[in-house]
Amino acid sequence: MFDQVEVLRDEALASILESCDLTGLEAARVRFLGKGGAVTALGEGMRSVAKEDRPRLGKILNELRQAVSEALDAKSRHLRVEADAKALAHLDLTLPGTPPPQGSLHPLTQLLDRAVMCFRRMGFAIADGPDIETEWHCFDALNTPPDHPARNEKDTFYLPDGRLLRSHTSTIQIRVMESTPPPIRIIAPGAAYRRDEVDATHLAQFTQMEGLYVAEGVSLADLKGTLEFFFRELFGSSTEVQFRPHFFPFTEPSYEIDIRAAALGNKWMELAGCGMVDPAVFEAICERRGDRVFDPEIVSGFAFGFGLDRLAMNLGQIPDIRMLVENDLRFLRQFA
Ligand code: DAH
Repeated sequence: MFDQVEVLRDEALASILESCDLTGLEAARVRFLGKGGAVTALGEGMRSVAKEDRPRLGKILNELRQAVSEALDAKSRHLRVEADAKALAHLDLTLPGTPPPQGSLHPLTQLLDRAVMCFRRMGFAIADGPDIETEWHCFDALNTPPDHPARNEKDTFYLPDGRLLRSHTSTIQIRVMESTPPPIRIIAPGAAYRRDEVDATHLAQFTQMEGLYVAEGVSLADLKGTLEFFFRELFGSSTEVQFRPHFFPFTEPSYEIDIRAAALGNKWMELAGCGMVDPAVFEAICERRGDRVFDPEIVSGFAFGFGLDRLAMNLGQIPDIRMLVENDLRFLRQFA
């Protein structure tokens, strides 16, 4: 019996060593350690061994089982390493990979997103309106008289049916007040259209952002505070903001805003129009709505509007506004 153990050990170790793949190795495991395997069978022969020899034989059989299973593990590890090495033999892992092309946001969209985030933190919601508008929304409701130069066909795109491409996003103020009672606190980014000759600083379509805050007791101080905070958030805390008296038909008093910031090349930039909503605008809304929730004796409000294209140009040192719409990837990639 003891001799048989020796013979089986030699046989098992040899056949494990000779296995040249994982399938052969598994067959060897079944043959020796499996349920009907040779080592198991030897164990069953214990019954025919003298009682005093049984503990010693048991110990030797355990050692045999252990030796065979260790040999199986070692060989299996070896075969796996060999298989990996073979699979990788023709691969050069030091070659650089092919990076997937990565998209990014347009510089104008990046600026717009930052502006929107800032106003959202101050409680402004985003409002929207159609690009094709009625004359009433674009001019009449905004207190713009019929003979105002902006209403000229040389300046505004009119459709054959009398509607027009909105020449400013102030139309959205009107749309919102038509449908929503105060308090209102909105910003409205969007496209505006003017019959401008296209050159390095003009496009016939550009991007504006309009803002409107209407409630009881809104004051000029709210307007100044809100816009100063906004421009300093966007361009740095040392940004200088100047309100210069101006005229817009839809606000009274009205101002133009100039700012100077290091991020914008440290020169004064005329940037935005703003003011306190003219009572005539509220009256036009009241008449249209058929109620008095926008009674100028009760509510007041401020409005502002500014173009984003020139701002994006100054921020990104972009010399020609047409680059913003040409979709040249060599240009756009610089803002990724
Ligand atoms: N709509 C004006 C423009 O396109 C900008 C503007 C000025 C908007 C004053 C306003 C405002 O809301 O109060 O030039």
